[in-house]
Amino acid sequence: MISKHTSDLVKERADITEVVGDYVQLKKKGQNLWACCPFHGEKTPSFSISPAKQIYKCFGCGKAGDPIQFIMDIEGIGFQEAIRHLAGKYGIEVEEDEKLTPEQNQEQNERESLFIALNFAKDFFVKNLNTEEGKSIGLSYFKERGFTPQIIQKFDLGYALDGWDNLLKEAKSSGFQEDILLKAGLVLQKEGDPSRLYDRFRNRVTFTIHNISGKPIAFGARILTKDKNQPKYINSPETPVYHKSDVLYGIFQAKKAIRDQDNCYLVEGYTDVVSMHLSGIENVVASSGTSLTEGQIKLIKRFTNHVTVLYDGDSAGIKASLRGIDLLLEGGLNVKAVVFPDGEDPDSYSRKVGSQAFQDYLEANSRDFIGFKIGLYQDEIAKDPIRRAEIIREVVQSIGKIPDPIIRSVYTKEASGLLQIEEEILFAELNKSLLKGQKDRFQKAQEEKEAEERIEELIPIQPQAISLDEVLEIQEKELVRLLINYGLEKLGEEDFLLSQYLLEETQEVDFKTPIFKKILFEYRSKLAKGEIPSIEYFIGHSDPEVKKVIIDLVTPRHEVSTHWHERFQIFINRESDDLSATAFKSILRLKRRLIHKMLEEAKNKIKLGEEAGEDSDKIFELQQVFFELKKVQLEIDKELGIVIG
Ligand code: CTP
Ligand code: MN
Repeated sequence: MISKHTSDLVKERADITEVVGDYVQLKKKGQNLWACCPFHGEKTPSFSISPAKQIYKCFGCGKAGDPIQFIMDIEGIGFQEAIRHLAGKYGIEVEEDEKLTPEQNQEQNERESLFIALNFAKDFFVKNLNTEEGKSIGLSYFKERGFTPQIIQKFDLGYALDGWDNLLKEAKSSGFQEDILLKAGLVLQKEGDPSRLYDRFRNRVTFTIHNISGKPIAFGARILTKDKNQPKYINSPETPVYHKSDVLYGIFQAKKAIRDQDNCYLVEGYTDVVSMHLSGIENVVASSGTSLTEGQIKLIKRFTNHVTVLYDGDSAGIKASLRGIDLLLEGGLNVKAVVFPDGEDPDSYSRKVGSQAFQDYLEANSRDFIGFKIGLYQDEIAKDPIRRAEIIREVVQSIGKIPDPIIRSVYTKEASGLLQIEEEILFAELNKSLLKGQKDRFQKAQEEKEAEERIEELIPIQPQAISLDEVLEIQEKELVRLLINYGLEKLGEEDFLLSQYLLEETQEVDFKTPIFKKILFEYRSKLAKGEIPSIEYFIGHSDPEVKKVIIDLVTPRHEVSTHWHERFQIFINRESDDLSATAFKSILRLKRRLIHKMLEEAKNKIKLGEEAGEDSDKIFELQQVFFELKKVQLEIDKELGIVIG
């Protein structure tokens, strides 16, 4: 047990801004600092830090607490371990109340034991490099690759001795239990005799994999011979402290540089990461040869929104890994790419040309993903018009993954230039692909809803009773009402605010009623600035019209709604406990009206095109847009339970 004296010292010394600042980028706004929450994915910061109160709070997911709680949450560790962690950060000596007995050691929670065992193994491998065997085999291998003593230390590189139980014996004599070593992935059970254990890593150099705060959580071990019957790398298995898909090799050594440079280089292998550090580039992580996962992207996003993917110079391999780029785009990251000359990877190339030339190469050859992707297919595009069409579609699909509409349109412009195709055609194609994405989302939402089996009465809509614009106004009002009243509430079980949902869904919707447009705009920009758009703020607004509307909207359940219902047969939501369903339906209703308008426009375009004798391809394109819209409308109708006569 850590003494009370030590934990008091840590509490006194730990500063919330410094502690959180190790994990996320903080921006000062007013009294507080803000960041995108490290605990849940988000695009606009709702995670706040109050230096005065020494606390953090996320308005998105609700996580809150002091510096110690933050470390417990983000590292997934217990109180004791968090104190230890912070004591390390601040150079505070840890006083134990009493030495741990083997029984207490066992009582400690499993995760903490695993961390200790893994750290022990790391020390063991590192120490092995200085044995005779280690020097002549492991160390000489590293030296051959140009690794310096400093870099070997920085990455905790090591050596696993030749033999079946070097680590096992050493660990056991230091008091580690076999089951912990097994759970840590350090030893294996003998086939046919599970009571016999042996070392997983033998006769290989070891790469220590650290978690974000620098604790060893796994190892990758590289073979030193050319034996084709053995895997080049042996890696730790999944364990309670090592979830491959949430880990990036090198993140601990890179995080500060990533934040400072506001960019993250992404490479394939352990050796690429180490070599790039040798070349003076520290903002680099590796996906360790596997395809990128959402968890890894989330990890990068804690530090930057810019990623530069470094590819070996072989275009078949590159084309196979383009899916990773789409994932990055979907995650809202800005993506660039660099391709190395044929047969070179970052490791080999940096050694070949030296640090300066390597850095210059990155600088000179980094292209945004559109230029990169189109460049990959340049030859095919020139030769084959059918392939060209396919590639155009493919590029547009990638653009469609980008959540930000402004960035989407910038890329569409660029693609139009590079592919030499009119922008409008790309936009039409883009809309198709967006609608498809939307449709998929609707479908998913629908399935979820059906599971909830929440069936509402069928609502006949008679739009002719009042004009389309009047209906839109009512629907817009309803959305603003939900936003103002419930914007800061959590949506269902998800780490997601109602306001985030509503604002995202209305991002591309141009509100027709000026007053609602104004309120929506102001709400959006306040949130973006990290301020809370409270009801009080709007009630105290300087614009009397805003004031009046808001007061109307926040007055509990206005009678008008039932009145509307009777008079116009427009369904206005009754407040229910199920806020997410209410919000979902309101959005759908608004979208239905908008799609109605778009359908009218599309119909008109087709008619005009036909009259003007446009060529059939163009007409076909227009018809496709029309049908896609129609399909979406039907989906929405189904969802809303509208029966079309
Ligand atoms: N990898 C693996 N298992 C293998 C081969 C590769 O886990 N059998 C992973 C490792 O994380 C490796 C990465 O894929 O770092 C890239 O593979 P590769 O380029 O073959 O290895 P390098 O690390 O570049 O090693 P070297 O430069 O020594 O060839
Ligand atoms: Mn390599």
